Amino acid sequence: MKAARGSAGSGGVVVPSEATASSQVAAPSGSAGVPDARPLAVEIDGLAFAYPDGRQVLFGVDLAITRGERVAVLGPNGAGKTTLMLHLNGILTAGAGSVRIEGMPVAGPQMREIRRRVGLVFQDPDDQLFMPTVGQDVAFGPANLGLRGPELADRVADALSAVGLAGHADRPPHHLSLGERRRAAVATVLAMRPDVLVLDEPSANLDPAGRRELAEVLGGLDLTLIMVTHDLPYALQLCARSVILDQGVIAADGSTASLLGDEELMAAHRLELPFGFNPRHVLTDSGGAMP
Ligand SMILES: Nc1ncnc2c1ncn2[C@@H]1O[C@H](COP(=O)(O)OP(=O)(O)OP(=O)(O)O)[C@@H](O)[C@H]1O
Ligand SMILES: [Mg+2]
Repeated sequence: MKAARGSAGSGGVVVPSEATASSQVAAPSGSAGVPDARPLAVEIDGLAFAYPDGRQVLFGVDLAITRGERVAVLGPNGAGKTTLMLHLNGILTAGAGSVRIEGMPVAGPQMREIRRRVGLVFQDPDDQLFMPTVGQDVAFGPANLGLRGPELADRVADALSAVGLAGHADRPPHHLSLGERRRAAVATVLAMRPDVLVLDEPSANLDPAGRRELAEVLGGLDLTLIMVTHDLPYALQLCARSVILDQGVIAADGSTASLLGDEELMAAHRLELPFGFNPRHVLTDSGGAMP
């Protein structure tokens, strides 16, 4: 579904003249018709963004995520998913509209606090690993927060063992396989103990056991989780709610099971379930048995 595109807004981006053309598939959170009273962890209003070369990617994204929710962000290649994620801790800043984390605008003097609260695992692990050893990479963030000595060592050990990389602390990141580097990148962020964990395609390049082990780690975390993924069974397993981002707008928002079960919607946004996978015949960590 295409977004309504309107007049040029501030920062050289085009913003929708009216509400975006997103379709609400089901109540995003809370049970039928009951408003959710939990505070918002993430609040995105009318976010539009163009890269410096003039290419506009986001056209008015509205998204509210309550504290403790787990939300998958689905959508085809080039939809703007990574671009949207990079706005959550201020790596990119809104051309128009606003992003708030726990009520704080992602801008200005709060940026340091925002970066402490929002942990972002990049799509490419090599963007996250830059120190001589894996252990130093994982220690980098907590050390910046002032942790030292045994407290810092414990953080590093906990984070590495959570992703199945205990014993790899002294290895240079470039000696790790891609799957191992991805897990190391997750560890660098877990070591920060963030309130909001944002993962860009966390299961890519993991072997089946590594994928399951990471799901167990993520499923056990008590925080707000936002996960961009093309791995639709992973979304169903870990996230009760999903949104579809397509052409820079939220095209659908609802329970993951209802979205994945809507063949027309899926086809409209180039989403395809793996061969033989039926979302109605699986058990999930997030929602129990499918109807
Ligand atoms: N630095 C950049 N400068 C200009 N255009 C960019 C830049 N980064 C990304 N884009 C463009 O923005 C659009 C959205 O890219 P983005 O990486 O957000 O998509 P995505 O939904 O994450 O895709 P994928 O599923 O392939 O990871 C693409 O058309 C891409 O070519
Ligand atoms: Mg991406």
